[in-house]
Amino acid sequence: MDNGSSPVLLSVRNLRKYFPIRGGLFSQHIGDVRAVDGVSFDIHEAETVGLVGESGCGKTTVGRLILRLLDPTSGHTFYRPDGAVMGRLNALYGTLESLRGGPDGEVPSSPEALSALREIDTIARTYSLYRKSSGAMHKLRGKLQIVFQDPFSSLSPRMLVRDVVGEPLTIHHIGTRAQRYQRVAELMTAVGLNPDHLWRFPHEFSGGQRQRIGIARALAMRPDFIVLDEPTSALDVSVQAQILNILRRLQSEQRLAYLFISHHLSVVRAMSRKVVVMYLGQVVEWAPTEDLFSRPLHPYTQALLAAIPVPDPTLHRERIILKGDVPSPAAPPSGCRFHTRCPAVMPICPKVEPRLLEVRPGHFAACHLYPGQPSLGPGAATNAPSAALPSSAGALSTPFPGTAPSLVPEGPGAGR
Ligand SMILES: Nc1ncnc2c1ncn2[C@@H]1O[C@H](COP(=O)(O)OP(=O)(O)OP(=O)(O)O)[C@@H](O)[C@H]1O
Ligand code: SF4
Ligand SMILES: [Mg+2]
Repeated sequence: MDNGSSPVLLSVRNLRKYFPIRGGLFSQHIGDVRAVDGVSFDIHEAETVGLVGESGCGKTTVGRLILRLLDPTSGHTFYRPDGAVMGRLNALYGTLESLRGGPDGEVPSSPEALSALREIDTIARTYSLYRKSSGAMHKLRGKLQIVFQDPFSSLSPRMLVRDVVGEPLTIHHIGTRAQRYQRVAELMTAVGLNPDHLWRFPHEFSGGQRQRIGIARALAMRPDFIVLDEPTSALDVSVQAQILNILRRLQSEQRLAYLFISHHLSVVRAMSRKVVVMYLGQVVEWAPTEDLFSRPLHPYTQALLAAIPVPDPTLHRERIILKGDVPSPAAPPSGCRFHTRCPAVMPICPKVEPRLLEVRPGHFAACHLYPGQPSLGPGAATNAPSAALPSSAGALSTPFPGTAPSLVPEGPGAGR
């Protein structure tokens, strides 16, 4: 799981967020939108992780959970776990995964499972963002920031830019008024804006300039992680390139880690070290960027990549058109959630939920096309919520079990 470079900054484990659906005369709880349903991945210091998937698959919810702008239904985001803690977490989640069985993929309440759950809970008390006190979380907020898609609605129209950018410093009582002013001027310069413009209101700036203001504000507390949620989608192409260049420069100057959420796959490719692909609340594939783009494994990723326009018309790429709409996250399909739209669907797919397994070194996919997946019978897992588990552990689908040989269908349909 360690990419061999920088230490892990955030380790997301079995994260779930179910939004309750209420209905009837007395507004009873009649179901859940399973917006995020067992998501796991790591973000290392100073790296960019791309997060892609169709609209409504849960990308923004994952970003908000990692910042604890939302509390999860279950699961953890471990902040700055050191190497020894990461090793222990990998072992504990691996143990739970190996115990998983039965028709619902539940973990039996064996002494071994309970002991692993207890140890995860002990580690969570120190490292999980969801176990931090409100005081500790308040201090961490400056370190974990977000830049929103829409630079028009994300900045208060009644505040001077000086106050918009400096507000986090004021909230955290950082420095004197003069020192704060000095810092805000520095931040304006860092994002390529004129510090003389601090006395303007946001509506007096263009879209690209407003996005720079949003970035300056996110940088105010010297963060080590920023969620970039479609940061350039609302901007013209030429302005997009400027903003991406600023983000890259700031990352190398300040060792920032980014979660880069975007529909724009070419931009994700250019920005990210690794890419996580989500479908209906779950991770279906993740890999180092070039590996994912050149040899995608999951039929869903192959379809997404096939939809990227090819700049050179002499190059051909088989186009996989996804059939049908994305199913409702309130009633996801059984087994593999993609089976209702998958061109490679097999009889086992609606029956058994595939696990996210390492198909090639460092390249994970959840699909029955590749070896090592559970079959029908003992060990099979459906996508029913794992009610047997305490909520602090989350239901279990470890993303990082052993390596299996590749069965990669390569060719025109397999991306560029
Ligand atoms: N506060 C909420 N209450 C109920 N449902 C929600 C809430 N927030 C998100 N959802 C639902 O959760 C699912 C995931 O939403 P999310 O915004 O995370 O998707 P997304 O991948 O970011 O989509 P997009 O690409 O359109 O931004 C959607 O079905 C959405 O309707
Ligand atoms: S598990 Fe089956 S339905 Fe799902 S992506 Fe793989 S082949 Fe398609
Ligand atoms: Mg979103």
